[in-house]
Amino acid sequence: MEERYAKLFGQLNKETQSHSKRVAKICRYLAPVMGIDEELAYRIGYVHDVGKLYIPSRIIKKSESLTELEREIVDLHSYYGYKMLKDMGDGPEVYIPVLFHHGFLKPRIGNEKAVLTEDMMKSIYVIHSADVYDAMMNKRVYHEPFSLEQTLDNLKDDALSNDNIINALAQYRCTESKREKTISYIYI
Ligand SMILES: [Fe+2]
Ligand SMILES: [Fe+2]
Repeated sequence: MEERYAKLFGQLNKETQSHSKRVAKICRYLAPVMGIDEELAYRIGYVHDVGKLYIPSRIIKKSESLTELEREIVDLHSYYGYKMLKDMGDGPEVYIPVLFHHGFLKPRIGNEKAVLTEDMMKSIYVIHSADVYDAMMNKRVYHEPFSLEQTLDNLKDDALSNDNIINALAQYRCTESKREKTISYIYI
């Protein structure tokens, strides 16, 4: 990935770095399913959580359930990522999907939805689904890995996923995720 991202990325905690690398690969894998550019999808996946740099690590590493205030603070990472990428000169095809990768109500700041294009919506589907898939399939400080069935069931009820993506993710695990999963455990 480009030099200008490297410094920021290197400051993220190891778990977020490895999660982001995996999500980038999943986004690139899903790109043809939604008809978006593979390189763009990879980039969005790589930088989607860069706003976590502004979230206190005490909250990010907390294994107990978060308080309402802590949850609101964590949710701000989408907005911080959007601001950082916009300030760095990235275009809306990158920073808009980052802003909405957890949905349109998170964060409750800004009104960028008005400028959403069809391609941006497709990118939002890809990054959101890839993010949920990776977060559920891997161990996190606050949960053990969920099964593939649980993960795909969760996405079936998700307004920012669809059947084509879910079918593709069902295949993805067979090809890559075993190796990725092993890598993620090294960092935790
Ligand atoms: Fe996120
Ligand atoms: Fe994420």
